[in-house]
Amino acid sequence: MEQTQNNIQEGKEQFLKDLIELLRIPSVSADTYHNDDTRSCAEWVKSSMQSIGLQNTKIHETAGHPIVFGEYVFNPKLPTVLIYGHYDVQPPDPLELWTSPPFEPVVKNEKIYARGAADDKGQFYMYFAAIKSMIKANEVPCNIKVLIEGEEEVGSDNLEEFVLKNKDLLSNDVILISDTHMISNEHPSITAGLKGLAYMEIELTGPNRDLHSGTFGGSVGNPINILCKMIASLTNEKNQITIPGFYDNVLEVSPEDRFDMARAPFDAKAFKNELDIQEEHGESGYSTPERQGIRPTLDVNGIWGGYTGEGAKTVLPSKAYAKISMRLVPNQTSSEISQLFKQHFEKIAPKSVKTNVTVHHGGEPAVTDLTSKGYKAASRAMETTFGKTPIPVRQGGSIPIVSFFENTLNSNCILMGFGLNSDAIHSPNEHFGLFNFYKGIETIPYFFKYFSE
Ligand code: BES
Ligand code: MN
Ligand code: MN
Repeated sequence: MEQTQNNIQEGKEQFLKDLIELLRIPSVSADTYHNDDTRSCAEWVKSSMQSIGLQNTKIHETAGHPIVFGEYVFNPKLPTVLIYGHYDVQPPDPLELWTSPPFEPVVKNEKIYARGAADDKGQFYMYFAAIKSMIKANEVPCNIKVLIEGEEEVGSDNLEEFVLKNKDLLSNDVILISDTHMISNEHPSITAGLKGLAYMEIELTGPNRDLHSGTFGGSVGNPINILCKMIASLTNEKNQITIPGFYDNVLEVSPEDRFDMARAPFDAKAFKNELDIQEEHGESGYSTPERQGIRPTLDVNGIWGGYTGEGAKTVLPSKAYAKISMRLVPNQTSSEISQLFKQHFEKIAPKSVKTNVTVHHGGEPAVTDLTSKGYKAASRAMETTFGKTPIPVRQGGSIPIVSFFENTLNSNCILMGFGLNSDAIHSPNEHFGLFNFYKGIETIPYFFKYFSE
């Protein structure tokens, strides 16, 4: 690995230049306006795969955005590591809150600022840099496959079909993903679990048209008033979710495991300061890291209806809308929870409104086996470069394909992320620390080495 590490040190400047080029492409998967940009990004990824020395590089078409694949398979006797990442990014809005434009990357205070810097372009590019350095050094310890998709931020719908149809192409001994964060640069950690997701969209219809709120107010059900009451009733005074059956399948974490988890450092004061909040909030009986990592949650992502323009318009609206997500833990399933929500929400609606609940695509939770070969290799790799054993931490985010990969390809996913939860992913001024970028590149070759031993 010595020559690989030398190549990494020598390549640093070029890796950053390459990443800047990648970050310039506005590959916003959710926005059809950016469809051509998203395709250009897939092409960029493919040609980058070629230039680092991967073989069989190909853009695979899907019903949505393309999937890019490449591999370095040279010895069937050696294990195969599949790398997964995503080249699509979240929409950059609200634009006015960015201090520099989202697709004009800048390096400031040892961090690179751009949409996708940490989620996930900066993180998947670490693999390209590491693989390039290994191939150049002729120090590749195992077979490598790389799959970079363009629809993670919109639910990875088409990736599932691709995986089912390409099991041989994707066959592997472990799947390695950098699309999560660590506790801090001083406290390296490995993501040991992700939440599942159930995502609902609600439409309430009151009267068949908007009404004068003086003439009709108080005598006709106002769908926005009603929606607010209904949403408020979804949690009780202990911030528990009130949907009947919601917790039935939740696999309770044992007191021993909770005790172990509590050893991961958490600074409540810094947490509150950073977010400018007075008080922590959540399900009673659980700490903030537990609420984030091991308890299911419910959040309104958006709510709208009626008049939201300038000034005051007096109106009793005909419609009210909301988008509500629930983050799930083992052994809840997305379809079961979606059904429970729908039934409950339709049941609590008063007859004065019509209720329409649509279920969006979700994802299942995942938990890492800490005794697996893959976890141990990741732990050793981080220990080598950080000088500290990483702590396993369950996180609240979701990567829908993780549990699908595990079930269909029969291998473990290892979530070795190098971001920080302060990277502002999905927010204005997303950034990725150069320390994290380079540390990731340095750590990755050790994973390949240790996994192959
Ligand atoms: N990389 C994130 C997931 C993540 C973030 C995991 C932080 C752990 C810690 C991923 O790109 C993402 O944003 N996923 C979505 C899921 C989705 C279906 C849009 C999420 O978690 O909201
Ligand atoms: Mn991501
Ligand atoms: Mn994301």
